[in-house]
Amino acid sequence: MKGNIYIETYGCQMNVADTELVLGILKNNGYELTKNAHEANVILLNTCSIRENAEQRIYGRLGNFKTLKTLKPDLVVGILGCMAERLRKDLIEEKKIVDVVVGPDEYRKLPELIDTAFNGEKGIGIKLSRTETYDDIIPYREDGLQAWISVMRGCDKFCTFCVVPFTRGRERSRTLNSIVNEIKQLSLRGFKEVTLLGQNVNSYLDGNFDFADLLSACAVVDRNIRIRFTTSHPQDLSDKLLYTIAENSNICNYIHLPVQSGSNRILQLMNRTYTIEQYLSLIEKARKIIPGVSFSTDIISGFPTEAYEDHVMTLDVMRLVKYDGAYMFKYSPREGTKSFKMGDDVPEEIKTKRLQEIIELQQNISSEINQSLVGKEEIVLIEGLSRKSEKFLSGRTDTNKIVIVPLEENLAEGSYVKVKIERATSATLFGNVVSVIEPGRETLPLTA
Ligand code: SAH
Ligand code: SF4
Ligand code: F3S
Repeated sequence: MKGNIYIETYGCQMNVADTELVLGILKNNGYELTKNAHEANVILLNTCSIRENAEQRIYGRLGNFKTLKTLKPDLVVGILGCMAERLRKDLIEEKKIVDVVVGPDEYRKLPELIDTAFNGEKGIGIKLSRTETYDDIIPYREDGLQAWISVMRGCDKFCTFCVVPFTRGRERSRTLNSIVNEIKQLSLRGFKEVTLLGQNVNSYLDGNFDFADLLSACAVVDRNIRIRFTTSHPQDLSDKLLYTIAENSNICNYIHLPVQSGSNRILQLMNRTYTIEQYLSLIEKARKIIPGVSFSTDIISGFPTEAYEDHVMTLDVMRLVKYDGAYMFKYSPREGTKSFKMGDDVPEEIKTKRLQEIIELQQNISSEINQSLVGKEEIVLIEGLSRKSEKFLSGRTDTNKIVIVPLEENLAEGSYVKVKIERATSATLFGNVVSVIEPGRETLPLTA
């Protein structure tokens, strides 16, 4: 054994999937995983640069590990992911405790770079690649129900506010075959849900196979595995893809389709490549092709030059679409992006006020949608005991809503059940099981 690795993951699901790749690579090289930082010889932070506060959190965490390093001078501390790529050598110069800096395309070199650090030098790997997809690497996954699979890497869209094209490089896709094989393995291990990941999953391309082909190939592997995917860019959401979702019962009727703003002027400044009219007609078309489809979105408040009228247009779009959920952010200027040069002219208190209005509106919409489900029946995948009480189980619908049902002896983690919804809040549905559709893997303990 070479040593114990402790790793923390920040940022998006792509980073969660990358952490599993990194652990796959390191375990193959004789490292073990520990969940206790005090037992580790190597501490890794897989980081995010998307907004200023994401980076601030990491700096805070590095401060915590400084004490540990004084106690244990041989400890190797490494920064992986988007911050490694964005800040590169500066990280090592500014933060003396950092020994290893490895960007998203150089994880194969990690064992070597950690050795370099053990030998007292700094291990740096920050080149981006046009081809690296880690197609042949088996990620390390603990047993469970839900798995993330990266199907493509990078982003070519260059939205003017976003660091991702700089931290993750150009778009490239994994092979369809390797993805299908990975799902076959997950099926044998009893997984029940797979989420295909990419910054723009629908730009996936492997030879002649596009994302719709990939989705249908994944869906037939095991009809008891639900297939989810994220994120979709409105520009690439093809009719073929919509029909593929409609035709396969185990592809979830749920599309994360970030709008960012409701104002065409702002959308243009953001380089989002669609108008709000095009976006809304896409939603309308999707609702025709996939009855009952639901949407979630990302929204930025306070983009440079955003006026009150622009903000109102965003609220209007939210009311029109009625998203099931939204991730809502204050604009954060990132050095090196195009919008950085536009200034950051919306005052902080206005950004905060607008964001608050956006959040409140979304809460109202979510509770309205959830209330409309009371009395209806939903198919739920049981995931385990509810977080709040051992007498209840928690699961999710196809449209990703959390449903709480009373614990019953015949219900197992991984079961699909039909639930009648009895009441709802903006975040959660509560109901009773009507019937078990597909039995799960193991019967849950009646007490924890
Ligand atoms: N590839 C995905 C998501 C990228 S990051 C997509 O295109 O939708 C997730 C979200 O973070 C973005 O959708 C955007 O809403 C937000 N985001 C990105 N850069 C930001 C910035 N500089 N300030 C605030 N929010 C940002
Ligand atoms: Fe960033 Fe835009 Fe690419 Fe999404 S599509 S990752 S927001 S540049
Ligand atoms: Fe963050 Fe990088 Fe993901 S910047 S959101 S971890 S792609």
